Amino acid sequence: MKTLRQALLATCVVIALPAAAVAQDAEVLHWWTSGGESAAVKVFADAYTGAGGNWIDTAIAGGQNARNAGVNRIVGGNPPTVMQFNTGEQFSELVANGLLRDVDSVAKANNWSDVLPKAVVDAATRDGSFYAVPVNIHGQNWLFTNNDVLQKSGVEAPQSFAELIAAAPKIKEAGFTPLAHGGQNWQDHVLFDAVVLETGGPDLFLKIYRDKDTDAAESDEFRQAAETYGKLRALTDEGSPGRSWNETTNLVLTGKAAAQLMGDWAKGEFIAAGLTPGKEYGCTIMPGGYMMGGDVFVFPKVDDEAAKAAQDKMAELMLSPEVQVAFNMKKGSVPVRLDVDVSAMDQCAQAGMKALQDPAKQVASHNFYSPDLVGTTRDVITQYWSAPEMGTDEFVENFVSAMEAAY
Ligand code: BGC
Repeated sequence: MKTLRQALLATCVVIALPAAAVAQDAEVLHWWTSGGESAAVKVFADAYTGAGGNWIDTAIAGGQNARNAGVNRIVGGNPPTVMQFNTGEQFSELVANGLLRDVDSVAKANNWSDVLPKAVVDAATRDGSFYAVPVNIHGQNWLFTNNDVLQKSGVEAPQSFAELIAAAPKIKEAGFTPLAHGGQNWQDHVLFDAVVLETGGPDLFLKIYRDKDTDAAESDEFRQAAETYGKLRALTDEGSPGRSWNETTNLVLTGKAAAQLMGDWAKGEFIAAGLTPGKEYGCTIMPGGYMMGGDVFVFPKVDDEAAKAAQDKMAELMLSPEVQVAFNMKKGSVPVRLDVDVSAMDQCAQAGMKALQDPAKQVASHNFYSPDLVGTTRDVITQYWSAPEMGTDEFVENFVSAMEAAY
C-alpha cells in the first residue's frame, strides 16, 4: 500500500504549483500521441489544470503533420494558444514574419538564461528574445535493446552499427529481427544521421548539415556511412515500411526484435510499460557523440489579454523545476534545466546527462540547421533506403544535388 508520503509525492506536482488561479482556456497543439508521450503531456495538462486553467488538447499524430496543421492555422489567423516544434530552426520563419509572441517577461522573471544550457538558449531565442519555451533534451542516437532476445541469440548488446551487423546472423537464427525499423522518412533520416555520426563524428555531421559542404558528402567517410546504412536494410523485418516509431519500439519491448535505433522518446514507451533499463532492456548511445534534440513550445500572437495570460502561465509552468522532473521522467528525455535534481532518474538518463556535460561529445541534431536542407536530404535518404538496388555513387550524387537545392 502507498504511504502517505508517496501519495503526497505523487501529487506534489499539482499542489506545489503557484496558487494564482488562471481559469483560462489554452489550446495546445502537439504530436505526442503514443503511450509514453500521452503520459508525459498529461503532466503539463495536469499542471495547467491544477493552476486553474483549462487545457484543450489538440494532438495530431506525426511531427510534420502537426507542424503543417499548426503553421496553416497560424498563417490563416486561427492559431492554437500554444504549439510544439522541435528545438532548433523550425519556427524561425514564423518569428521572422512576426507571427509569434515573445515570452521575455516570463523568461526574465524566472531566470531562464541562467538555468538553461547556452545551446538551448540560443535555439529558443531570436535577437535576444525568447520565442519558445524549451522543455527537454532528447538524445537521438540511442540503441534500445531487449536483453532477453540478446541472451537467447547468444550475443552481447551491440555498441556500434558494425557490431549490430556482425551480430545479426545469430539474432536471425534465433528467430528474431535484428533491427526494428519504422520505414517513415523521418525515421530513415534519424537512422542515417546516427550512422553518419558514428562514421565521421561531429566533424562530418556538421560539415553536411551546418556548413552545407558538398565536398564532405563526396568524401570516403560519407560513402562509407552510406554503405553501412545500406547494409542495415537486411536487418529489418517485412512489416517495416510505413510503420510508426512506437509500433516499432513495441517489437523490441515485446521480444520480437533485438534492437531499435531511436531518440529516447522510445524510452517513454518502456517506462509506460513498467520496464526498467538494465533489467529487461538496455540503452546505448551509439558512437560519435550525443545527437541532441528536443522540443519547444511557441506562442502565436493573440490579441486577447486572457489568451496572453494563458500563454505566460503555460510558459512558466512548463519550465518550472517540479514539472520539468515529472514530465521528463515520463517522456524519456532529460530536463532542460541545469539546476534540477536528476538523481532519481534511470541509468539511461544518467548516461545522457553525463554525455551532456562534455561539450566535445555533443552535436545538435539536424533540426538546428536549415529546415529546407533537412527536407531535401530527407527525400533522397528515404529514396535510397527504399531502393536497395541504388548504388552509393548514385545516392551521393542525389545527396549533393539535395544539398545544392536547399536554401
Ligand atoms: C520529438 C519527440 C517525440 C518524437 C516522436 C520528436 O521530434 O522531439 O518529443 O516524442 O518526435 O513523436
